[in-house]
Formats: sequence, structure tokens, C-alpha cells
Amino acid sequence: MNVVVTKSYEASCKAAADMIAKAIQANPAAKLGLATGSTPLPIYKELIRMHTQEGLDFSQVRTVNLDEYCGIDASHPQSYRYFMNENLFNHVNIDKKNTYVPSGMGNLEQNAAELEAKVFEGGTPAVQLLGIGSNGHVGFNEAGSRLTAQSHVEPLVETTINDNARFFEKREDVPTQAVSMGMKGILAAQSIVLVATGASKVEAIRGLVQDDCVYPQNPATFLKLHPNATIIIDEELAKQAGYKA
Ligand code: PGA
Repeated sequence: MNVVVTKSYEASCKAAADMIAKAIQANPAAKLGLATGSTPLPIYKELIRMHTQEGLDFSQVRTVNLDEYCGIDASHPQSYRYFMNENLFNHVNIDKKNTYVPSGMGNLEQNAAELEAKVFEGGTPAVQLLGIGSNGHVGFNEAGSRLTAQSHVEPLVETTINDNARFFEKREDVPTQAVSMGMKGILAAQSIVLVATGASKVEAIRGLVQDDCVYPQNPATFLKLHPNATIIIDEELAKQAGYKA
């Protein structure tokens, strides 16, 4: 696992966007593993800028997303399918048929099985983009005494529901379950890039940088097992998490 420390969150996002753009330039039909949440927004903005100003070509790119809330459909403004369309897909020349966000409606077990198949179909992602929860979750693999390997339906824990309540009118509106890629699918990516910023991520990042151990109570620590994972944090977060290069 490499830790990259940048001057600012903006610089972290630029570095992550450059890694994704390089994967597309190396293979125009690259498969990308994508994430939602606030952290990746500037990364997607930068990819859109590269598309409009520099001709970064998404016409053959394929994508698979980490997760989707259960109980809200693609037309719901807080669904991850809606998020991806609004924040990336509608602004680049990607063929939406080549994009996959799991469904959180209908038969959830079947949706999880479909997501698992999509992660591996035609080869695993060249790059898997990740944010990190304040509890260390990646995708919706929640902190706990154990982690699930395969894509599955995950009950969301209190911290996650509280963290995500800001996106909904009322806390009670936050879905309590999600379909999520499991640790196996995440770790199967050819490379992983995780971006984090802000005081709420200090403890989760400390777990990543403090030692060489993995903890199901901090699922992101499993990235230490990956041969090509990069954690991008800004100076401020590095300092607060006690990271020394
Ligand atoms: P955030 O979420 O980017 O909105 O902080 C990250 C996550 O929960 O994975």
C-alpha cells in the first residue's frame, strides 16, 4: 500500500483523476470501479474537464459501481445511479449501456449476485476508486467483527446512517440497507485508489497508516493486503492521523 500526501484535498482529487485518466489512455476500453459520496465529486469534475477540454475519451470505457441503497430506485435523487448520471455519466461520452450500478429494488439477493458477476465479467477493474467511511467502511462493508467476501446485502450501521443523513430530508429517510460489493470484489481490482480528507476520517486513516495489521473493525485496513493500493490524503489529515513518511 502506498500513501501519497498532497498539499490539499483539491490536489488529492487531481492526483486520483490523473490515475483514472492514465488507465483510460492505456486502454480506451478500460473498466473502472467507481464510488459515490462527497469525496469523489471533485475527481469526477476533473474527469469531465479532461473530457471537454482535453478530449479524454470515454466512448469504450466500462464501469461498475460499488454499491446502491436498498428501497430507492434510480429516479430518486439520492440513489447512486442518479448520482453517477448527474455527476459524471451525463457529462462525458460514455455509453450508459457500459455503466453498471447495482439495483436496490426488487430481489436484493439476486441484485447482489448480479453485481458480483459484473465485477468479474470481462476482467476486474483496472482502477477501483474508493472513499472511506468515518468508521473505515469501504463500499458499504461496515466495520464489525467480520467482513463479507462476496457482493451482498449489508445492513447499515448507526454511524453510516448518521453520516449520510445530511443527504436526506429526515434521518428516518436514510435507507437502512445497501447492496454492496464485498471485500473480494474490491480487492480483485488491478489497482485501488482511496481518497480521504477531513477531521471525520482521522481515526479511519490512522488505522491504515499506523501499522501493518488488518482489522475488520476498520475494513479499509484490508487494502494493506493489495499489491497496488494507493491512499491519497492531504497534509492536514496526514498530520492528524500521525502519518510519517
Ligand atoms: P463521503 O463518504 O465521501 O461522503 O465522506 C465516504 C464513504 O462513506 O465511503
